[in-house]
Amino acid sequence: PLTLENFEEIANCSESQKSAIDEISKGFEVNKTKFNEIVNHFRNEMKKGLEMRGQTVAMVPSYVTGVPTGKEVGTFLALDLGGTNLRVCLIKFESEGNMSIKQQKYTISETYKTGEARQLFDFLANCIDKFLAELDETDYKGSSRKGGKLNLGFTFSFPVEQTAIDKGTLISWTKGFTCVNAVGKDVVFMLQEALNRKEVPVKVAALVNDTVGTLLAHAYKYPNTLLGVILGTGTNCAYFEKISNIKKLQSSSNAEHMIINLEWGAFDNEKKVLPITMFDNKLDRESNNPRLQIFEKLVSGMYLGEITRNILLNLIDRELIFDGISSKDLNTHYSVETAYLSTIESDDTDTLENARKILEEELNIPSTTLTDRQIVKRVCQIVGLRSAILSSAALSAIITQCNVIKTGCDIGIDGSLFEFYPSFEARIKSAFREHFGTNADNFKLGLARDGSGVGAALAAMLTTAK
Ligand code: GLC
Repeated sequence: PLTLENFEEIANCSESQKSAIDEISKGFEVNKTKFNEIVNHFRNEMKKGLEMRGQTVAMVPSYVTGVPTGKEVGTFLALDLGGTNLRVCLIKFESEGNMSIKQQKYTISETYKTGEARQLFDFLANCIDKFLAELDETDYKGSSRKGGKLNLGFTFSFPVEQTAIDKGTLISWTKGFTCVNAVGKDVVFMLQEALNRKEVPVKVAALVNDTVGTLLAHAYKYPNTLLGVILGTGTNCAYFEKISNIKKLQSSSNAEHMIINLEWGAFDNEKKVLPITMFDNKLDRESNNPRLQIFEKLVSGMYLGEITRNILLNLIDRELIFDGISSKDLNTHYSVETAYLSTIESDDTDTLENARKILEEELNIPSTTLTDRQIVKRVCQIVGLRSAILSSAALSAIITQCNVIKTGCDIGIDGSLFEFYPSFEARIKSAFREHFGTNADNFKLGLARDGSGVGAALAAMLTTAK
């Protein structure tokens, strides 16, 4: 079995607490047989997605066929929408892999996330306008401002049916966005219209997913990069595929490879192979996109806290923890942040003091015993471990598809889960080791922090240079 970790015994644990935890762990377990089953199903779904449009795993062609060489020069804008923040960046590629970046982050209010799409895009145009107003002319002099316009790479991290490097219609929103009048529309057109309305001198030259941006940015530094991955609020991956394998693409391109954005968050929406528990089903039915993004809901940072909350509520209802007492906060959706899980999992004080602070001071549980806290820590471990193993299974499928088990490759990864969650990387690697044996050492996982902005600028450069 895939027993990656031996969790420590919980002291003073009653029989009923122990059996409840064992039963919950079972539901989350991914043993070797399950792991292989997931890898195989994933590969099949990839194949289907490459053959036909409209499949569960969308396998979106990115129309990015080139790779940056590291020798590019020029100045480009990037706009990054899709995670927790909105970012506008100005990126100067100087020479020989040197670049400088100026950037500004903006928060996107719930109103923009859930209102009229036009308002959201007007807000984006406003942010770009403000950002440009604060720059010196020298920042972008002699740049790509052909015809007076600065070229922009637009990182739009939602499922899009892309038909050209600068064209793509939104398939569906994910990660809590629900704006009306956007699904089915071309997002480049919407952004360009908003810029034109405000007379901002910017041309949207390339549309990329954050995974594609991450892949390009990582490849700029590490030419052996074949995969770009996001493990953050949402989760997804992009990789280089042979154009001859992309059966659904009618392309006259001479290029050999194209980056494919998998949209792996939707993997197994049919709930056939994933280890789905009642806690996941509850989260899914209460979410604003039920029966969609099922893989993402088991793996990504937006949801791990909520799954944990559902388990804790169940244990409270059975009077197995906290004396059966909860709190208003714990009864509030999404009140358990994934950062809490990180802290609790890495708490190695004897009394689990950091866990106590979170439970009693952040979530306002009246009182907790050490056993309670140990149980909570175990719950976090169960949820965190499954997320890492599932990511590893999906990556294993893609690596196999790329045919690089022996030769290896670099994998650029961005996102808060990968960057901050304790042992996330180590867990991915040990699952690799179980699956690939010593070949697992051929894969180099690297943090590609904020790569998607740089990557979008690179994509804008690759297309405008043609
Ligand atoms: C969601 C989006 C996807 C994006 C991922 C990571 O899964 O649908 O496009 O890449 O989140 O941000």
